[in-house]
Amino acid sequence: MRIVIAKDYKDMSARAARIVAGQIYLKPNSILGLATGSTPLLMYKELIRVHKEVGLDLSEIVTFNLDEYLGLPKEDQQSYHYYMFHHFFNHINIKKKNIFIPDGMVQDVGQECKNYDENIKEMGGIDLQVLGIGNNGHIGFNEPDIKFEATTHKVKLDDETIHANARFFATIEEVPRFAISMGIKTIMHAKKVLLLVSGENKAEVLYHALYGGITPEIPASILQLHQDVTVIVEESAAHLLQQKS
Ligand code: PGA
Repeated sequence: MRIVIAKDYKDMSARAARIVAGQIYLKPNSILGLATGSTPLLMYKELIRVHKEVGLDLSEIVTFNLDEYLGLPKEDQQSYHYYMFHHFFNHINIKKKNIFIPDGMVQDVGQECKNYDENIKEMGGIDLQVLGIGNNGHIGFNEPDIKFEATTHKVKLDDETIHANARFFATIEEVPRFAISMGIKTIMHAKKVLLLVSGENKAEVLYHALYGGITPEIPASILQLHQDVTVIVEESAAHLLQQKS
């Protein structure tokens, strides 16, 4: 595991964008696993800049998003479909057919999950998976649990996640209670993982995820077992790593 301490959010985002862009330069038809949330926003912005100003070609990439809320249509501004198109896809030359995000309005959730994993497999697996970490240690929407959930599955969101994500909604009641999330095995099968960590509030959970026991109660702790993880941590989230390691 490589741990890179970035001096601030901008530096973290620029370093992350360089890794993603490097992956695409080396393999233009890379399969990317993508994350939503506040953390990767500036990384997407930087990738758009590199696409527009430096000519990074994104026409061959294939993307799989980690998760989607159940019950939100694609057009809903809180859906992760909307987020991805608004913050990234609408500004680059990715082909629509190469974008995969779980469908939050699907009738047969089990089948949707199965198809999602099969699509990832058929494409040859994820080359680079971008991750954030939740305040409760979740990756994707793999919430703290008594076991690691392997494949793409339906999730009941944790109260902590509902509270954390309420900041994007008018009221907490509007936050969906369920989601579809890529599973831990799917994430762990990615050839490379890029974990981005921003904000002082993530310092404690990051410390436990990287240096504590490997436990489904802190889902990100499983990354200790992955052979190719780069963690880019904004300085404010890294002080416990520096003190305690
Ligand atoms: P954040 O979310 O980037 O909005 O902090 C991270 C996550 O919940 O995985």
